[in-house]
Amino acid sequence: MAVTEPSGGLLSLFPPGSSVAADGMLLLGGCRADALAAEFGTPALVVCEAAMRARAREYADGLAARWPRSRVVFASKAFPCTAVQRVMVEEGLGLDVAGGGEIVTALAAGADPATLVLHGNAKGDEEIAMASEHGIGLVVVDNADDVDRLEAIVPAGRAQDVLVRVIPGVTAETHAHVLTGHAGSKFGLAPAAAAELIRRIERSPRLRMQGLHVHVGSQILDVEPFAQSVAPVAALGEFPVYDLGGGLGARYTYADEPPSVGEYLDALTGAAREHLPAAAEIIVEPGRSMVASAAATLYRVVTVKRGAVTFVAVDGGMGDNLEVALFGQRFEAAIADRLDATGGEIVTVVGRHCESGDVLVEGVPLDAPRVGDLLAVPATGAYCFTMANNYNGNRRIPVVFATDGAARLVVRRETWNDLLARDID
Ligand SMILES: Cc1ncc(COP(=O)(O)O)c(C=O)c1O
Repeated sequence: MAVTEPSGGLLSLFPPGSSVAADGMLLLGGCRADALAAEFGTPALVVCEAAMRARAREYADGLAARWPRSRVVFASKAFPCTAVQRVMVEEGLGLDVAGGGEIVTALAAGADPATLVLHGNAKGDEEIAMASEHGIGLVVVDNADDVDRLEAIVPAGRAQDVLVRVIPGVTAETHAHVLTGHAGSKFGLAPAAAAELIRRIERSPRLRMQGLHVHVGSQILDVEPFAQSVAPVAALGEFPVYDLGGGLGARYTYADEPPSVGEYLDALTGAAREHLPAAAEIIVEPGRSMVASAAATLYRVVTVKRGAVTFVAVDGGMGDNLEVALFGQRFEAAIADRLDATGGEIVTVVGRHCESGDVLVEGVPLDAPRVGDLLAVPATGAYCFTMANNYNGNRRIPVVFATDGAARLVVRRETWNDLLARDID
């Protein structure tokens, strides 16, 4: 099949390896978008497995080359799907799990519990008990109540390895809703409070103080805040482990220019060389930048309404992508068999939900959109599956892995019966 690159780099936001067939149809993981839609329906979240695996290796090899005593753990929250976690496990990564649900899927994915890192600013007794029972490698202590719970739950004669989460006081340039390292953050402890809790943990028979954790936020498009977060952690003392979090931004729009993984790791390990003990282990926890670009969502155009604004309404929306409504993330979109919209109509792509805020892309050029067209939105691999919901009786959408021209369903679409499944009365 003849494959051409459309003008203007339109393909560049789609997963690496995407291409265009001779008739103009988008191919994801070597599979035609129209064939994927015919087999799995729309909307569908299509993941290019090879692109995801390549990114995992880029992170793991990049960190190992710069800091041999190191580990990459995938922040499961970015795509908490068993099949995605399994890919990360197969690529040799650990998993960051935020809560009991992600522990369950991580174990189902075959993760060694010793490679899991448990997070949460409000971990309940049940989650601490799960961590202890399954032998989870590291519990990241966020507050003194975590310590109380661990002391009450970890059985006598055992000690849980922990990190303490520190607020570095770094305000990165990103949306306030995804900022976590600023003074006043709800996550972690300011350095003085962290120092006090560390002293308590060091005296506790049920906890073993392994090190410190820091995370400045998400969708950060500059390496400087990451480097700046290292010194405040180093000031708290020398430990065997430093988990420097995730947060590297992904490329969502043609204008976005996130640092490369190499640039990010250079900045991080450069700061580590300056401030941290040379023998320490470094962990990084990428989520968004690991998976965002590996996927695209396919929708069917349901209606086109022309007026002061041309609205192109599709069969999904904020039920499968809350990133726009939650923190104003800008996406791009294209008609799957007419990617090149040079001179096309400027439209607003909206969803089917009863909210004016249910906008997928505002002001995007599309080539003569019409009912029945397939619409492709790239870079939907991070936090879209995560925050999928049943608003307006939405059936959460399937996840399809596409590789080398073959596609397979890894999460099915919810059914109408699924919507009734929890009803008791
Ligand atoms: C503790 C922690 N680590 C890692 C991440 C992953 O961040 P990102 O998806 O931006 O890489 C998050 C997400 O906010 C987080 O809270």
